[in-house]
Amino acid sequence: MPRNPSNFQENLVEKGDPRKAIGVFDSGIGGLTVVRQIHRILPHESTVYFGDTARVPYGPKSEKLVRRFALQNSQFLLEEGIKAIVIACNTASSVALQTVQEHMPVPVMGVIEPGVKAAVQTTKTGKIGVIGTVGTIESEAYHQAIRRHGSTFKVFGQACPLFVPLAEEGWVDRRPTLLIAEAYLTPLKKQNIDTLILGCTHYPLLKLVISKVMGPDITLIDSAEETARELRALLQKRELLRRHREDARRTYYVSDVPHRFREVAERFLGNSLGSVERVDIEKYENPKKDIL
Ligand code: DGL
Repeated sequence: MPRNPSNFQENLVEKGDPRKAIGVFDSGIGGLTVVRQIHRILPHESTVYFGDTARVPYGPKSEKLVRRFALQNSQFLLEEGIKAIVIACNTASSVALQTVQEHMPVPVMGVIEPGVKAAVQTTKTGKIGVIGTVGTIESEAYHQAIRRHGSTFKVFGQACPLFVPLAEEGWVDRRPTLLIAEAYLTPLKKQNIDTLILGCTHYPLLKLVISKVMGPDITLIDSAEETARELRALLQKRELLRRHREDARRTYYVSDVPHRFREVAERFLGNSLGSVERVDIEKYENPKKDIL
């Protein structure tokens, strides 16, 4: 029977230490939209963020390669001493969540299920749109997750690969962005969806343009916020929430030179970050080499 990836792994997980940080990784900078929500909803928690800036984008890459990257990134976070892992990248969540859950001794969650939960609670007509990278849409991870909530839901996916560079460049409200959004989103609009999942780390930055094209009757689901809420519930369930108000430490690592990351990061995070260090990610061993 296929394993339900929304269930957090039960067997492997050791009793964790609430004082440890939450590890978050993304293919690059976009996962900071998730970190931003984690800081808002769990302000006392420390976070260690890893952005795989040397190997971004994950969106057009093969599932096998993304799984290898996801395991290496998780191994790095684990060696930093974390109590849970959040895969902030939708592409990695789509194709690697189960693999990472199976190989890490801490709870691991992705961003797909939290967004799906919010979408199925929001929709009135049962017609849900999903936008994401080519990897996310082709994996049909959102389709499958939505159908697990009910077979009557109708799901319409659309890959929007140009949205990632537009968000990274800060072209969030320019005319070409609007034209591109119209080209991608008009077919979805024609399907009469009433709910649209922003299934990519970068898309919350383009919310204004996306809602302009979709119109006021279509609710946009930002999985970053839902993920932070779900993380709080997970930590609570595992008795991993910090019991005392301590100073939260927020550390950032990237796999390429940090200056470009720093430049764009503020836009995603909403405030400035402290130190950003470079990590040689290729030196981190995958716990299970035979899947590579
Ligand atoms: N982080 C990716 C995602 O959420 C977008 C960028 C990429 O393609 O790596 O799918």
